[in-house]
Amino acid sequence: MLSLLIHSLLASPTSAVNNGLARTPQMGWNNWNSLGCDVSQALLIDTSRVLLDSGLRDVGYNYVVLDDCWSDGRGSDGYIIVDKRKFPQGMKWVAKQLHNMGFLYGMYSSAGELTCARYEGSLDHEKEDAQSFASWDVDYLKYDNCYHKGRFGYPEVSFNRYNVMWEALNATGRPILYSLCNWGEDYVHTWGMSIANSWRISGDIYDSFSRPDDLCSCTDATNPHCIAPGSHCSVLNIINKVAPCVDRGQYGGWNDLDMLEVGLGGMTDEEYKAHFSMWAAIKSPLLIGADLRELSAQTLSILNNPAVIAVNQDPLGKSAHRIGRNLNVAKDKYGIGETQIWSGPLYQGDQLVIFLNAADEDMEMSATLDEIFVSDGPEGSAAQTKQRWNIYDLWAKRMDQTTAEQIVESGIARPEFKKVNWYNSTELPYAEGLKAGDKRLLGQQIGKVGPGGQIKAKVPRHAVKMYRLRSVDGGVKRYSIYKQEL
Ligand code: GLA
Repeated sequence: MLSLLIHSLLASPTSAVNNGLARTPQMGWNNWNSLGCDVSQALLIDTSRVLLDSGLRDVGYNYVVLDDCWSDGRGSDGYIIVDKRKFPQGMKWVAKQLHNMGFLYGMYSSAGELTCARYEGSLDHEKEDAQSFASWDVDYLKYDNCYHKGRFGYPEVSFNRYNVMWEALNATGRPILYSLCNWGEDYVHTWGMSIANSWRISGDIYDSFSRPDDLCSCTDATNPHCIAPGSHCSVLNIINKVAPCVDRGQYGGWNDLDMLEVGLGGMTDEEYKAHFSMWAAIKSPLLIGADLRELSAQTLSILNNPAVIAVNQDPLGKSAHRIGRNLNVAKDKYGIGETQIWSGPLYQGDQLVIFLNAADEDMEMSATLDEIFVSDGPEGSAAQTKQRWNIYDLWAKRMDQTTAEQIVESGIARPEFKKVNWYNSTELPYAEGLKAGDKRLLGQQIGKVGPGGQIKAKVPRHAVKMYRLRSVDGGVKRYSIYKQEL
């Protein structure tokens, strides 16, 4: 009897979403950030080839997502019409090509009468559109928020509008990952997990690390007056917005920090590494936003770092959270400057630590074990503070430039990837790699820290240091509501 009870407790879903998808944050590519409305079937197929040939699919990027601008009105029968100039073979054909290459296919619509680029929206046509997506073998729907006819302003109103599509997708019987894009409005972080696999928590990202912009005036997603999330949101703005609600992410449903800007050109290499690290640590979906037909070696070796991706795909599914913030540091010409320390639990008792330097100069940063494990017990009461830890630098083993260049120039064919120590998550899922202590997921050991000790580092301006701590003595068991999946 007792064992039956325990079983049913463990087996009960920890998320209201029950479509079995996004057990770890979804990964893939989306055209919007670099190409906007310039979409076509050739773009999707060419991009999928690059994802495959560069090994990016193998490290986890398996959803190819088409954003706005693909339709051509609605027929008198109520069904949406595909733009035949951009997609002459139709969507089912596209899905088939992608599936044949080992990808899943994502599409876009809006919970409004129009999409944001003023194409046909799905509001009040949810059933027909869900049927179309399912009949085209689509695996993912990004669902936007423009032209909603005023049906927002109160959480339940937005919930109901998005719930219609969730039910319509469910009714098709096809598992379709449901990704809300309502920019954090109406406290979506409090209800998104009931109906969706992910929910955007901010206005649109732009290719800047910290530049403030009037179009992205809100800085706190939990502020009730933050009703105009806008666009032109910097990486730092989005990090600060999500900080108060990172605990809402859970397996099956994730805070979405928006698509990656890595490789678009507006940030330095260190800024892109910081952007990627924070998205990974906060368990955001990782959707590459760059035009991969122009993929550079430098961009590849950020996006393909398995030690960082393993943090994002960690089976525990717990976001890191901010344990320290210092605003009393050098400011840039916009008056922006701060440092932050983030920490969070990882699979098998490991711990993540990030020093984020958004000050306008290089900084010495440090954190004691008491601070790092504050969530396991404040004021040094956590059992972990009594242990010794190996410190692994998760960026120290970034792929070298020559190898990355050889790959983007097709100097290394896929079958030879093993020679360059490639991590292939389709053969060795991250959960298994972590359990086995696969070295590629640990970066490089740089030292140890024990009771009373601290981690210290010089962090360049607009950069992160990202560490995994692994217990020397075997670790402390953590209770997790996610236990059944570990
Ligand atoms: C909104 C979304 C973006 C993108 C565009 C498409 O702005 O937030 O991510 O989908 O619409 O028009």
